[in-house]
Amino acid sequence: MKSDIESVLISQKELNRIIARLAAEIERDYSAPDKRLVLVSILKGSVMFAAALMTALKIPAEIEFMRVSSYGAGTVSSGNVRILLDFYRPDISELDLLIVEDIIDSGHTLSSLTKLLNERGARSVRSCTLLDKPERREVPFEPDYTGTVIPDKFVVGFGLDYNEKYRNLPFIGVLKPEVYSAPERPSMSIMKGNPTTK
Ligand code: IMP
Ligand code: MG
Repeated sequence: MKSDIESVLISQKELNRIIARLAAEIERDYSAPDKRLVLVSILKGSVMFAAALMTALKIPAEIEFMRVSSYGAGTVSSGNVRILLDFYRPDISELDLLIVEDIIDSGHTLSSLTKLLNERGARSVRSCTLLDKPERREVPFEPDYTGTVIPDKFVVGFGLDYNEKYRNLPFIGVLKPEVYSAPERPSMSIMKGNPTTK
């Protein structure tokens, strides 16, 4: 598996530092006694990150999971996300939701989900992403908490996959272009619309 990696972009040690810093920022914002923090982990990519973030938090935190598949601009109207797995809480108006994502790319997933959860009446909706590729944005969206900005390269590891592989690498690495065999890099048009790759 490691031989498919061109370079390590973020080491395990660096990931731990990033997650500790994010947890401190989140604690600062959610420590008031009237807050009720619920992490909404977006499956499958954010599982490792959400678990690590949750254990790094020293304030009460609950967790829920959603699985979505977004369509790239061009296929369906932009900002459209299909919910494949949802969560249910009897009174969402008491909850301060924090969407936890592995990576923000086009921005469709996070902007649509933020809108949806606000429409459902959550008390607050914020988002936290481990990685951000701002160069790829198709809709304007700024997450409230960002682990680190990365260049426009296809990365895997620590939850992120290519064809369901490499999620269990303990670091973030750049995949060797020859691994995706196709003439071009894996584009979001391949990733999108295929729920198994989310
Ligand atoms: P977007 O911001 O709506 O384009 O969606 C981001 C989603 O695209 C993430 O949750 C990932 O599943 C996927 N994604 C984007 N860039 C990468 C990458 O470099 N590696 C693996 N998955 C990616
Ligand atoms: Mg994915």
